[in-house]
Amino acid sequence: MFDRKKKGERALLVLPHSRSMGDGVRRGEEFAELVRSAGAEVLGHVAARVEDPNPRYYIGTGKADEVAEAVRALEADVVLVDHILTPVQERNLEKHLSVRVVDRAGLILDIFAQRARSHEGKLEVELAQLKHLATRLVRGWTHLDSQRGGAIGLRGPGETQLETDRRLLGERVKMLSKRLEKVQTQRTQQRRSRLRNTVPRVALVGYTNAGKSTLFNALTTGGVYAADLLFATLDPTVRKVDDLSCGPAVLADTVGFIRELPHDLVAAFRATLAEARDADLLLHVSDAADDERELLRRVVNGVLEEIGAGDVPQLSVMNKIDLAGLPARVDRDAEGKPSQVWLSAATGEGLDGLRVVLGELLGGERVHATVSLSLGAGRLHARLKAAGAITAERIDDSGWHLDLDAPRSVLAPLAGGDEHAAPLRQLLEAEAPVEA
Ligand code: GTP
Repeated sequence: MFDRKKKGERALLVLPHSRSMGDGVRRGEEFAELVRSAGAEVLGHVAARVEDPNPRYYIGTGKADEVAEAVRALEADVVLVDHILTPVQERNLEKHLSVRVVDRAGLILDIFAQRARSHEGKLEVELAQLKHLATRLVRGWTHLDSQRGGAIGLRGPGETQLETDRRLLGERVKMLSKRLEKVQTQRTQQRRSRLRNTVPRVALVGYTNAGKSTLFNALTTGGVYAADLLFATLDPTVRKVDDLSCGPAVLADTVGFIRELPHDLVAAFRATLAEARDADLLLHVSDAADDERELLRRVVNGVLEEIGAGDVPQLSVMNKIDLAGLPARVDRDAEGKPSQVWLSAATGEGLDGLRVVLGELLGGERVHATVSLSLGAGRLHARLKAAGAITAERIDDSGWHLDLDAPRSVLAPLAGGDEHAAPLRQLLEAEAPVEA
């Protein structure tokens, strides 16, 4: 009992619920998962019904006493409240409980800070964190210091120190904003140059833990970090996919979305999430085994709207069919266009279906025909082969006879070359979609 291992902070959770908050149990589990992601140990929780928030503590006074008792009994180091608190409420609770209190926004920021990997991601998080801190530095944590040490004389210097802290904080915010602006300009330029070379871009989006990183890995066979931790990915990781019928595409993994994302953070992640905004197609990944998946899809779509990616075409991916006990399948709308793919990124079941659908959606209309090229068309033949457009071929004295099966978008750039490409040009013109 007394031989406590150093396992990170010992946390007591306060889980507010009300009629308007939805499934309390699910929320509680998700919050506990967030806390574990932050590296803390969950000791227990106190549920608090909050229909009418108390301006002083957010929770009721009686409930605050109950939490104080639990803090003592469980020897908690920190109390985490699953709601956004005002700086005053946070401070009052700290005074009342004599331990540190962190609200949902502070916790999410903390996790983001631990997970950020790119230079830009780190800057974004630090900036959001400092802005969040700034509102809470009004009187800082002197109330805790004075209660711990009872050092009455330290109060004055403590305040002075705080003023210095606030000034330094202001300077750091300015400096970080400037740096971030510069990095973001560079990133925009990089994105523009990628836009110019016409490779279609696909971005994975979805509620946290839906399986985006796992799917990203499965499609790119790369080694992107995927772990059973919320927000395992914070920076978009971008990789090329080469085995689609439409030719190469660029796939980007993005940060996991979550409900009640602190508002500062949504703004701060605008740049990072620009991958989603600039994509030709969003793969909206959901956990098929999750009863709340429709609600979570709405949360994700809400954030997408907010960052200006609301009108990017989406393909819905229902992941984890192995958990849900469902077969792999592709749903299509009335016109035969794929709308939803059911798969398991973990077992690989249904991945081929997704590849076919991606090729279809990104490649546009397919051309399936035979073409004869003169013997001099060796270079064009090599380029068609490299693009994976030839399904069968024969050569004789009159030239090459090729069976083609490829998206129009792959063939069209190859048809624009020399005189040897004329039969291909004619073929594409003859097969051109007729305007209604
Ligand atoms: P964030 O980074 O938090 O946004 O998560 P994510 O959406 O990238 O999820 P991630 O790929 O990290 O997967 C979350 C958890 O679900 C991991 O434990 C995965 O192993 C697991 N998982 C992902 N796909 C599948 C699947 O198809 N079946 C099963 N059974 N588990 C899966």
